[in-house]
Amino acid sequence: MPDSTRRMLVTSALPYANGPVHLGHLLEYIQTDIWVRFQKMRNTDCVYVCADDAHGTAIMLKAEEHGITPEDQIARVRADHERDFADFLIAFDEYYTTHSEENRELAEVIYTRNRDSGYISQKTITQLYDPQRGMFLADRFVQGSCPKCGAEDQYGDNCEACGATYTPGELINPRSALSGAPPEERETTQLFFDLPQFEGMLRDWLASGAIRESVANKLGEWLEEGLQPWDISREAPYFGFEIPGWPNKYFYVWMDAPVGYMAALKHYCDRVGRDFAPYWDPDSDYEVHHFIGKDIINFHGLFWPAMLDGANFRKPTALHAHGFVTVNGAKMSKSRGTFITARHYLEHLDPEYLRYYFAAKMVPGVEDFDLNLDDFVQRVNSDLVGKVINIASRTANFIRKGGGSLGSELDNPALVDEARNAADEIAELYETREFGKAMRTIMALADQANAYINEREPWKLAKEEGREDKVRAICTTALNIFRILVVYLKPVLPVLAEKSEKFLAIDPLQWGDEQTLLLDHAINKFKPLMQRVGSEQVEALLQASAGTTHEAEDNAVTEEDGNQITIDDFAQLDLRVARIAHAQSVEGADKLLQLTLDVGELGERTVFAGIKTRYAPEELQDRLVAYVANLKPRKMKFGTSEGMVLAAGPGGDDLHVLSPDNGARPGMRIQ
Ligand code: MSP
Ligand code: ZN
Repeated sequence: MPDSTRRMLVTSALPYANGPVHLGHLLEYIQTDIWVRFQKMRNTDCVYVCADDAHGTAIMLKAEEHGITPEDQIARVRADHERDFADFLIAFDEYYTTHSEENRELAEVIYTRNRDSGYISQKTITQLYDPQRGMFLADRFVQGSCPKCGAEDQYGDNCEACGATYTPGELINPRSALSGAPPEERETTQLFFDLPQFEGMLRDWLASGAIRESVANKLGEWLEEGLQPWDISREAPYFGFEIPGWPNKYFYVWMDAPVGYMAALKHYCDRVGRDFAPYWDPDSDYEVHHFIGKDIINFHGLFWPAMLDGANFRKPTALHAHGFVTVNGAKMSKSRGTFITARHYLEHLDPEYLRYYFAAKMVPGVEDFDLNLDDFVQRVNSDLVGKVINIASRTANFIRKGGGSLGSELDNPALVDEARNAADEIAELYETREFGKAMRTIMALADQANAYINEREPWKLAKEEGREDKVRAICTTALNIFRILVVYLKPVLPVLAEKSEKFLAIDPLQWGDEQTLLLDHAINKFKPLMQRVGSEQVEALLQASAGTTHEAEDNAVTEEDGNQITIDDFAQLDLRVARIAHAQSVEGADKLLQLTLDVGELGERTVFAGIKTRYAPEELQDRLVAYVANLKPRKMKFGTSEGMVLAAGPGGDDLHVLSPDNGARPGMRIQ
C-alpha cells in the first residue's frame, strides 16, 4: 500500500507579477500539479504552494507604464494568475505573494542570520546611473555594443551574438534603455552575500543526489569556474523590501523571491493550524521539492541552498528542472500566433487536453518541449477518446441493457490482473517524473483492452439468445480495466476521473483502489466523458492569439511581432546557391563550423555556422546550400562571418541545412 509516512512541501517557481501566464509557464505548473496529485492520491502528506513574484524593477516600471501603483499592478496580475491556474486545474494548497508581511519577516530573518554569521559584506562599487530617470540601472536596462565582438544593441550582461559575459560598464557606447541617455558612473555601497564561503557545502550537497545528473553537472561547472560574492542590494527607487539598517536600500528581487516559498507555506500553516518549523529544520525528515525551469537553476542550486544553510535552515530535498516550451518547433511567436496565453487557450480548448499532451511527452530532464499542434490534436483524440474512453463507451450500454449492474464474474481475470499489476511500475514512473513513459504504459493497457473487446464482439453476442451472462462478464472485465486506468490517469486528468467516478457510481479513486474489483455493482448511464479536439478549434486559437498583443516581458522565449514585408523588402535579400568548398571545426566552440563557400561569381566567402551539433565537417564537403550573401559581416571571437547559411529546425539534432535541387550551380540567385 502507498506510503503515508512521507511529509513534503512542493513548490513551483513563482511567476512574475508583470504579465499573463502562458503555455510555457504551464508546462511547469502542470508538471508539478500532476506530481502533487499523484502524491496525494498515495496519501502522502503533501503541501503544494506557489505565489506571485511581485518585486523588482520590471514590475515597478510596468506599473508606471499603466499609471498605477505597484501594489495595484500586482493585485491585478495576481487575480488573473489565480484564475488561470484554477481553470487549468492546478490545485495549490496556497497561492500567495512575495509582497507580504510573512515574506518580509522571513527575508529579514535569513538576511540577519547570514549577516550575524559573517556571510554578508559591503563593498563600494561603481554602477551606471541614468541621470534623466534618477535611478541606477540594472544590467538589462543598459544597452550598447559588445566589448568583445562589437555586435550592436546588446544588453549589459551578455552578448547574444558571441556569448561573451561582461559588466554593463564594459559596453561600448552604453545608453540607458529607459531614457536613451548615456549613463554616468556613480559610486554606491552594496551588500554582498559571500557565496564562496559555501563552496564546500555546495559540493557536498551536489554529491548528495538532490538533483538529477544533468542539472548537477551544470552546477558543477559553475563551481569549477569559481563562485563570486552575490550582490543582494538595490538602490531606491525599487519595489521590494528595505534592508534592515540600510535606509533606501532594498533586497534584490532574487533574494526575497525564493523566501516566498517559505512565506507561502507560513501563511498556509497559520491558516490551517499546522506546524511550520519542521519543514525547515535541518534535522527533520520532511521533504522540500522545488520544480523549476532550466533558466533559474543557478538561483535554486547555488544562492538559495547557501542562504538557507547560512541561516541554519534545511536545504531542499530535490530540484526538479524542466526545459522550455516551443510551439511547432519554434520559439513561441506573437506573429505566428503561437505565443499562447493561458486565457486564450481556455477560450478555445479543454485544459485536460493540454495536461494530457504535456504528460504524454514529458521527460524528467531539461530538454526543450515541443508543442506540435497537429500531434496534439492527434494524440488527444487517439489516446484519450479513441483508446481509454472507448473502452467504456463500447461496453457500458450492454450493462445498462442487462439491468444496470456489473456482473459477479470476470470473463478474463488475467487481463484485469495485468492492468492492476502495472500499478507499481506506473507509480515509480510518476515518482521519477517519467510521465511520458507512464502514459505509454497506460495506453498499452488500453490497447489490450480494446483488442480484447474487438475479439469478443459483445455487440454480436448481445443479439444471440441466452448469452446475457457472457456479455455481462465481458463488459464487466472491460469496465474494471477502465476503472483501473482511470486510477492511473487521475493525477493528469482530474475532471475525466471525476466524471468516470460518477458514471461508475463510486467514491473518489485513490492509489491502491486499482487492486480491488468492482463486481455486482450498479453503474450509471454512460455520458460522453470528453469531446474530441477539432483542428478548427486549434486554428481559431492561433488566430485569436495572433490577433492580440500581449504583455510578456517576462522570461518567456518570445519573439517580437514580425510585420509583413513587401516583395521589395524580400528582394533586398541577396540569396544565393553556394557550394561548401571546405568545412572545419572551430577550436573552443562546440557548436560552430567554419565554412568556406564557393559562391560562383561572388567568389569565396567564410561563414561561421552553428551546425556542428548536427553535421560532421566531412559530411558537408561539396554540398550545395542556400546562402544569404548580403548580410552585414559580423565580427566574432573566431573571425569574421560573412553572411549566413540557411537551415531548418529548432537546432541541436533536429537541424537541416537547405539545399537546392540537382543542377543548381554556385552563385545562382535564389528568388
Ligand atoms: N520569478 C521567477 C522565479 C522565482 S522562483 C523563486 C521567474 N518567473 S517567470 O515567470 O519568468 O517563470 C516562472 C517559471 O516558468 C520558471 O520556472 C520558468 O523557467 C518557467 N517558464 C517560463 N517560460 C517558460 C517556457 N517558455 N517554457 C517552460 N518553462 C518556462 O523566473
Ligand atoms: Zn559579442
